[in-house]
Amino acid sequence: MNLPEDKTSKTLQELGIALPEQVAGLFEEVQSHFDAESSKDFIEILWKEFRDEWLGRKSGVLSQITDNWLKPASPELKRAVGAALNQLRARVEAKIEERRLSIEATEEKWSLTRERVDLSLPGVLRPVGSHHLIRQVLQQIEDIFFSIGFSVVEGPEIETPYYNFEALNIPEFHPVRDDMDTFYLDLPPSSDGKDAPQPLLLRTHTSPMQIRTMEKRQPPVRVIVPGKVYRRDNPDATHSFIFHQVEGLAVDTDITFCDFTGTIEYFVKQFFGPGVKTRFRPSYFPFTEPSVEFDVSCIFCGGSGSAAGGGACSKCKGSGWIELFGAGMVDPAVYGFVKYDPKKVSGFAFGMGIDRLAMLKYGIDDIQVFFQNDVRFLRQFP
Ligand code: DAH
Repeated sequence: MNLPEDKTSKTLQELGIALPEQVAGLFEEVQSHFDAESSKDFIEILWKEFRDEWLGRKSGVLSQITDNWLKPASPELKRAVGAALNQLRARVEAKIEERRLSIEATEEKWSLTRERVDLSLPGVLRPVGSHHLIRQVLQQIEDIFFSIGFSVVEGPEIETPYYNFEALNIPEFHPVRDDMDTFYLDLPPSSDGKDAPQPLLLRTHTSPMQIRTMEKRQPPVRVIVPGKVYRRDNPDATHSFIFHQVEGLAVDTDITFCDFTGTIEYFVKQFFGPGVKTRFRPSYFPFTEPSVEFDVSCIFCGGSGSAAGGGACSKCKGSGWIELFGAGMVDPAVYGFVKYDPKKVSGFAFGMGIDRLAMLKYGIDDIQVFFQNDVRFLRQFP
């Protein structure tokens, strides 16, 4: 602001201007200064400063010219100064407005660019989990049993020996307990020290829910019981101290062995496909009589027993059959524990390993992968 500041703070007299002809030159000077200044690049904030410098009410250049040149001017000069000042004001105002519009337009262009949404950009990929294969297989099993009138019940993983063993017709010194060596819980004695704590264990099978269900419901009973079970097994490809079972129980007034095998066959064909065959062999469980072991024709060699490249099928060891699960007609002794009349009711029960069924259906050869939570495995079953 060198030029105007120097001169506009002085009166015309002080500047030595006495003739109207001199006025034009003086204003030209101011104007060319303005023209030079106003063509600089502005952002909004600098534009405001510039505007105030020229148009500010108190100390703007134009106000100063009014105060110091026009007002004290001699009558001969006043006309010329007034006219020149009006011209200058019009020019200054027009130019400043023009700059305002152009700054606004640039700002708008910028903000449009900044806010532009590029619809072609790839979206944010949120990883979505999936059901664990055990859960998926359980749902398949449930759907099959739902379709024939079974419902699902679930029970505690911490059980009493009564439900886990005794009520299932497995007395304390029965040798089958050896097969189900389990985890007992160390419980502190009761606070008054009188009662010995009731022994508790992690259930070794889902069969205790047979008893709990029959205690609560009257026949007809048709339930399946999925859940985790625990055994003191050392981990290897087919053993784990935790695994999953689905128990089944159907009790009514006239359930026969035919209902039993028909139900199992229906399930196995639904689960593995209509091409498989089933068979049962005599077996032993204290809570079923008769007891059987169900087999399915080998899903790997189609039941032929021979491998595709010759030799015996390694999965069924050449037999053409794969052992699936245990089952049987409910032992009348069990009805005694739940106050059902064994003369009036009959039924069947079964207990299958979900892990084992999943391994067979999906060709998995190590049960441990179900518990390792390795995403490379889990992702294979979306
Ligand atoms: N609870 C048995 C086990 O874990 C499986 C079983 C066999 C369950 C026969 C049953 C059954 O209900 O009838 O080895």
